[in-house]
Amino acid sequence: MSAAAPAAAPAAAPAQQQPAFRGVFGFIGGAVAKAVSTTFIVLVVAAFVARHVLEDKNTIAKTHSPEVVLARMLARFEAGSVIPRFEKYHVSRPDAIAMLQKVLRPARLKDYTVVIGEVGCGKTTAVHNAIRANSTGIVYHIVKSEVLVSMPGLLARSLAFEPNQFTEGYLKDRGVELDEVTSAAEPFRSWVLLSLILRDVAQQFKTKHGHPATLVIDAVDEIAQQGPALLHAIQDFAKAAADEQLLNVVLVTCDGSNLPELKASSAMTRARIAEVSDITDEQAVDFLLHRGVNEDAAKRAVAKIAGGRFVLLNSLVFELQFKTVEQIFEEFSSRTESSLQRLIDDLALYNATSVVHKTLCDLTHGSLRRPSLEKTLGIDLTKKLLATNINILAYHPNDTYTLHSRHVQRSVAALLNCTRP
Ligand SMILES: Nc1ncnc2c1ncn2[C@@H]1O[C@H](COP(=O)(O)OP(=O)(O)OP(=O)(O)O)[C@@H](O)[C@H]1O
Ligand SMILES: [Mg+2]
Repeated sequence: MSAAAPAAAPAAAPAQQQPAFRGVFGFIGGAVAKAVSTTFIVLVVAAFVARHVLEDKNTIAKTHSPEVVLARMLARFEAGSVIPRFEKYHVSRPDAIAMLQKVLRPARLKDYTVVIGEVGCGKTTAVHNAIRANSTGIVYHIVKSEVLVSMPGLLARSLAFEPNQFTEGYLKDRGVELDEVTSAAEPFRSWVLLSLILRDVAQQFKTKHGHPATLVIDAVDEIAQQGPALLHAIQDFAKAAADEQLLNVVLVTCDGSNLPELKASSAMTRARIAEVSDITDEQAVDFLLHRGVNEDAAKRAVAKIAGGRFVLLNSLVFELQFKTVEQIFEEFSSRTESSLQRLIDDLALYNATSVVHKTLCDLTHGSLRRPSLEKTLGIDLTKKLLATNINILAYHPNDTYTLHSRHVQRSVAALLNCTRP
């Protein structure tokens, strides 16, 4: 018997009928789906990134655009610098304040001003007082002992100015030739960029308010000490700003030892010099009484040592707690003597016939005119006596010299046996 033929296999299910075909299509479909989803994700991410980049750009445009940057500086001028309150006992100086207020708000801008006064005579305090009453339109900046390259940046901060990637483009669009500027070394590069923007803001201020704004830079002697070039550049700017009646620039500097430096700049011809001097002896005694010194010591200390020089009065308040007026005077006097000796040993100072001796004695009685003093002492010795580390001579804007302070005057008179005239 033959074996029964195996039953026919059941028809294959359609899914199993064309495995290769389906496999190919399945693969393509998967790939397409993957590609679509990847593209979608990429597009979403790109859109997200683009949106943020755009937003950033918009934000940058809002905060960094030249218009906004200039508007900030203009607002700083309009608001004026905030001047801190004076906390200690205060000597009222109405004349000095009135003089400075005229300097800060000149009826007509003809020149820039250099405010001069001996070290520690109260310039900064007086300028603060003159501004505090109404600071609108005045930006005040004080140079500290920073390194020179930082100076323009710190001044920019006082002016609420932050240069950015658009600053140079803005200036180029305004037709400013920047090649020389951008290749210059610091601090000149930053200073020139700042000064160019400052000019534009000053013009905006003047147009809007009908009078120029004021920029005060205090303690410019700190700049001069590190080399006069930057100070001269600032003076040139101040002179040009005055010539164009654009911005009232006021520079504050201590003592005349710096004045020859300022005078070396041709821009000095345009400067008006205003002097802040010492307070009177009566005011000085009153100051010491208010600071707890007894009347007898206060009177003698003012007459012998400090006169009306604030920096000396302040140190007396402290020193008189431990020492007598005479002891303090002796200390000052021996310093003056060794300075003098170091400087003019070779010049036979103690020879009574010496012309130097006579000139110094003449100075113990009052001021001498610059040409005659420089002729008798010579420029070299005059400069040395004027130097701030020696502080024997003081130069005054009315073109005269005096001895530097009350104790120097008395020391020189005693050391050289000067007789009264
Ligand atoms: N009108 C005043 N009343 C009381 N104290 C004052 C007055 N003016 C200045 N002083 C004090 O005298 C000292 C010197 O003042 P200030 O710093 O204003 O002098 P300055 O001339 O600016 O000094 P520098 O030459 O060092 O810049 C400070 O301690 C200050 O507080
Ligand atoms: Mg000062």
